[in-house]
Amino acid sequence: MRVYRVKDYDEMSKKAATILAAQIVSGPEKALGLATGSTPAGAYRYLCKWYQEGILDFSEIRTMNLDEYRGISREDSQSYYYFMKENLFGHVNIKEENTFIPDGEREDADAVCREYEALIQSTGGVGLQLLGLGRNGHIGFNEPSDSFIKECHCVSLALSTIEANKRFFENAEDVPRQAYTMGIGTIMSAEKILLLASGEEKADALSRMLGGPITPRVPASILQLHRDVTVIADEAALSKI
Ligand code: F6R
Repeated sequence: MRVYRVKDYDEMSKKAATILAAQIVSGPEKALGLATGSTPAGAYRYLCKWYQEGILDFSEIRTMNLDEYRGISREDSQSYYYFMKENLFGHVNIKEENTFIPDGEREDADAVCREYEALIQSTGGVGLQLLGLGRNGHIGFNEPSDSFIKECHCVSLALSTIEANKRFFENAEDVPRQAYTMGIGTIMSAEKILLLASGEEKADALSRMLGGPITPRVPASILQLHRDVTVIADEAALSKI
């Protein structure tokens, strides 16, 4: 595992965007695995800028997002579909039909997850998976639990995640209680993983991920077993190492 220590959020974002850009330039064969939330938004801003400057071309790129809230429509401004449109897809020349996100509007959880897992595997898997880190150590929406769940599944969000994500909603009651997410096995099957962490509120989770035992109580700790992980974290996130 390579760990890059950077000064702050902007430096993290620029370095992450450089790695994502290299993956985009290296070819469209494998999908780019994407994440939502505050952490990757800065990296997406750099990618949009480099596209506008003519440096990057997204026309052949395929993307697979990690997760989506269950029970909200794509048009809902809190959906991850909407987030991706606002933060990346709406600003670059990616083809809509090449972007994949679990369909949060569909109620049939088993079918949504089974189809999303099959889609990822049947199209050759993910080349580079971008990840943020939950304050409780989650990746995707794989919450701390008694066992690692391998494939895409429907998850009930931990109270700490609802608490952390309520900043994006008017009230905590509006935060969806469930989400569809890639499983730990789905994430681990990516060829390369790029995890970003910024801010003091990630320090605990990051130190447990990097130095603690591998346990489903800290889902990100499984990344210690992946052969190609790059972590870019700022000083605040690394303050407990
Ligand atoms: C988002 C995702 C989550 C976030 C994590 C951190 O697609 O899968 O695991 O990466 O909750 O969220 P932020 O970046 O908002 O702190």
